[in-house]
Amino acid sequence: MKVTLITGASSGIGEAFARRLAAEKHDLVLVARNEKKLHEMCDELMLKHQIMAHYVVLDLTDTEAVNKLSEETTRHGFEVDWLINNAGFGSMGDFVDLDIDKELNMIELNISSLVALTHQYLPAMRSRKRGTIINISSGASFQPIPFMATYAATKAFVSSFSEAVAEENRPYGITITALCPGATTTNFFAAADIRDPLQVKGLQTAEEVVETGLKAVRNGRTKKVSGFANYIGALLGTFSPTWLSSRVIARALRPKFQGKE
Ligand SMILES: NC(=O)c1ccc[n+]([C@@H]2O[C@H](COP(=O)([O-])OP(=O)(O)OC[C@H]3O[C@@H](n4cnc5c(N)ncnc54)[C@H](OP(=O)(O)O)[C@@H]3O)[C@@H](O)[C@H]2O)c1
Repeated sequence: MKVTLITGASSGIGEAFARRLAAEKHDLVLVARNEKKLHEMCDELMLKHQIMAHYVVLDLTDTEAVNKLSEETTRHGFEVDWLINNAGFGSMGDFVDLDIDKELNMIELNISSLVALTHQYLPAMRSRKRGTIINISSGASFQPIPFMATYAATKAFVSSFSEAVAEENRPYGITITALCPGATTTNFFAAADIRDPLQVKGLQTAEEVVETGLKAVRNGRTKKVSGFANYIGALLGTFSPTWLSSRVIARALRPKFQGKE
């Protein structure tokens, strides 16, 4: 059975992908740690859309997580036709003050699990000459971000990795897209313990991000920023020298995190 596997499907952008693709009759495999939420979602989506929805409760930062997921999909005879690497989290603060275990855990989730899952499911997509991978990057990927240093660097990795692998797989009929949302109304800021996130205005909804992502896939885009204002921000980040954009961001955030100019 062909399935769409979504990581981080228990809330926010991952949940919005699951709801939208269920309505488009995709059969789903949903992955996250919150079993109650995944169970409820699968029951609801199966009933509402007459699809198959299976969930796997996993902490994707566990060393055995990707093997376990692969065993589970093989055991059920699922062909992962779409892979949405969405699970991720961030942190904000003066790097020296941040919990190093949490920073390293972020690298495990945002980078290592995404790379490992892509590597796990690509070979079968290649032999089928069909497949779609959406890797959730961020507007934070376009420039270094002082006081969000690790998170921005993980997302720079995601975009660079995705665009490179997308070109490697273009001849095999596989679409790989790095989707770059800007600030979006999800649980992200609470999970990252970020209050008052840069006073960002005009946050997008998760549904708007999903809409942009699906359009990008249809158009075969390898990278897509969600939202016009975020696109302008990404252009500024791309074309400004990194020393300048970093300096400007550091100036804006220094009073909050270091209490001095
Ligand atoms: N919201 C924004 O402003 C924004 C902007 C740009 C990019 N993004 C990116 O969008 C993606 C989705 O985030 P979101 O905004 O939708 O935030 P969210 O509502 O906090 O969702 C994060 C998802 O990741 C899952 N997750 C977290 N740690 C996990 C782990 N160790 N193992 C398995 N699953 C885990 C969470 O589920 P459980 O807790 O149940 O495990 C949840 O389903 C992330 O990659 C984020 O970096 C978000």
